[in-house]
Amino acid sequence: MSAPPLPAVQTLGLTRSYGSMVALNTLDLTINQGDLFGFIGSNGAGKTTTLRILATFLAPSAGQALVLGHDVVRDADAVRHVIGYMPDFFGVYKDMEVTEYLDFFGACYKIPTAQREKTVNDVLELVGLSEKKGALIGALSRGMQQRLGLARVLIHDPKVLLLDEPASGLDPRARIEMMAILQELQRMGKTIIISSHILSELQTLCNRVAIIERGKLIYAGPVQGVRDHASSGRVIWVKVSSDQDRAIELLKVRPEVSAAESEDGHIKITLVNHDIDHSVIAETLVHGGAKLTELREDELGLEEVFLRVTRGDTQ
Ligand SMILES: Nc1ncnc2c1ncn2[C@@H]1O[C@H](COP(=O)(O)OP(=O)(O)OP(=O)(O)O)[C@@H](O)[C@H]1O
Ligand SMILES: [Mg+2]
Repeated sequence: MSAPPLPAVQTLGLTRSYGSMVALNTLDLTINQGDLFGFIGSNGAGKTTTLRILATFLAPSAGQALVLGHDVVRDADAVRHVIGYMPDFFGVYKDMEVTEYLDFFGACYKIPTAQREKTVNDVLELVGLSEKKGALIGALSRGMQQRLGLARVLIHDPKVLLLDEPASGLDPRARIEMMAILQELQRMGKTIIISSHILSELQTLCNRVAIIERGKLIYAGPVQGVRDHASSGRVIWVKVSSDQDRAIELLKVRPEVSAAESEDGHIKITLVNHDIDHSVIAETLVHGGAKLTELREDELGLEEVFLRVTRGDTQ
């Protein structure tokens, strides 16, 4: 039997602090080769921090990150060869022509002069900018500049692309064009990690996603899994000083309740959906003769996070 393929990216307890601020908190994440992976979180969640660590620009405070098996600290050079990193904000050389710019980066990657022209043409073709070869960068639209940024990170034919909010600031059409290019790159066998603060933007594009909030991983898995979590009901905890089994029976027959069970001396109640007023729980118990001593709702569940993330709220 052959060994399982190397993950494209693996992080183990990856942590980064800025002073006393923990920007990334023990992140464990595996991204498989060939994934088009969405990295989702609101402003300040730690997306850029993670991508910069993977791109070898920033050292972790603790933990480890591997890209195709290469450690980002110990084997940084090997990592740089296999990744293409597009920062959220990249300097644009406004007075340079498109081909000059790409040729310059080709030279940085030591692509031989004889080969460079073809490479530049190939990447321009890929991002749909062939017609803009001689144009000044400053004269390109924002969408075209973003695509040029993408062309730049493709110059050395990296296997793993780390793209920090490549669609931000683009109009809907430019976004769709960008997404189509990413799908094409995935078909070419590249692994693509793309960050965004809007889940809905990525849910049709990506096969897997991770959601982070304040440096902590909240969810990682198939896109469908987020929806399943998001559509599941809220959880309410109650405590009764009367017969607990009797209280559970009272709750179970309510149509608003999808599950009621004993846990840690409390009753854990899952409501069928988010819109139910939890006073129905108190009323059911009190009318049934149970003595209610405590009622509380789970703090910030995945549902809440999901809603916040999809709305793109800031912290
Ligand atoms: N150089 C720095 N010095 C101090 N704190 C920093 C630095 N860089 C980032 N942080 C903090 O780390 C946290 C994570 O920031 P990060 O840029 O990784 O978030 P993000 O998910 O990319 O957010 P955004 O959506 O705004 O780009 C934030 O609270 C931020 O203020
Ligand atoms: Mg960022």
